Amino acid sequence: MGDIKHRVGLIGWPADHSVSPAMQNAAFKDLGLADWEYDLLPTPPNELEVRVKNLHERGYVGANVTVPHKQKIMPFLGSIALSARGANAVNTLIWEEHHFVGHNTDVFGIRADLESNGVDLKNLRALVLGAGGAAHAAVLAMTNAGAQVTIINRHSQRAWDLYRNVKRGVTSKFNVAVHERSALGKIVSQVDLIMNCTSAGMWPHYVQESPWPDEVPFPSGIIAYDMVYRPTVTRFMRQAADAGSRAIGGLGMLVQQGAAAFHLWTGKEPNTEVMLNAAKNYLEEAKD
Ligand SMILES: NC(=O)c1ccc[n+]([C@@H]2O[C@H](COP(=O)([O-])OP(=O)(O)OC[C@H]3O[C@@H](n4cnc5c(N)ncnc54)[C@H](OP(=O)(O)O)[C@@H]3O)[C@@H](O)[C@H]2O)c1
Repeated sequence: MGDIKHRVGLIGWPADHSVSPAMQNAAFKDLGLADWEYDLLPTPPNELEVRVKNLHERGYVGANVTVPHKQKIMPFLGSIALSARGANAVNTLIWEEHHFVGHNTDVFGIRADLESNGVDLKNLRALVLGAGGAAHAAVLAMTNAGAQVTIINRHSQRAWDLYRNVKRGVTSKFNVAVHERSALGKIVSQVDLIMNCTSAGMWPHYVQESPWPDEVPFPSGIIAYDMVYRPTVTRFMRQAADAGSRAIGGLGMLVQQGAAAFHLWTGKEPNTEVMLNAAKNYLEEAKD
């Protein structure tokens, strides 16, 4: 405990059972960073401001931020980096001189993982399901890489909020449309990739759910990307695979966003294989 000079942690509510400590601590160990440690910082919403205020004096030089704080934390930070402004959400903090700066490494993570899976984003026709923080990052990342994006969300007003927020952060052609959920059947023949950016399918409460309605046949020969990483195979992924589409889970993105945060904190490149194996081992041992 006394040998730890640099602390980082996960601010969320709840924050228990996260994969991140296993993944980040394995990367610190791999690079011989024995005085770094990643732990959990469970923070109920009414304690968020105090958490940020006290963080640095408790030895923390950075943090990750997760549900439900990714937007609510923004007013408590000293400044917001461009990546987080565009996504209208913060998932990483780094202490710089006198205050915490908010970044968003999900935007990098989603693009890096799609590219490492060989997905060419230029002119790709993508359908994003969801309109929360993860969907903001996905729409921003894919639009900036030249994709055409359609957004559908359970509550369409949130999809329009996402449209307006991301429009401010896009640096290339803004090729984004919003549709009602009822239009899904028509749109589906015109997409190359469908991305689940909702919480449907996520352990522990939503494992039985999928954002894809049973009454709409899942298309074949396309890519289905699920941001959900726990369980590693979701109901949405099974619907896609059963229809003859390629299903990719969210673990690769989790590693990429974590690697980008690691780099911001330490200035070093972590070994993403080590991080992926640590995440897989953790999930294997957890046996949800
Ligand atoms: N792989 C990664 O690295 C990574 C990174 C970030 C997030 N994620 C995952 O992405 C998911 C979304 O995270 P978030 O931060 O965007 O959460 P969020 O801001 O709370 O947004 C949740 C979204 O899910 C929708 N939703 C929830 N349950 C649904 C259901 N049963 N059917 C259809 N839509 C549903 C909500 O729709 P309404 O607006 O209509 O309520 C909203 O659009 C989480 O599971 C998270 O773990 C993964």
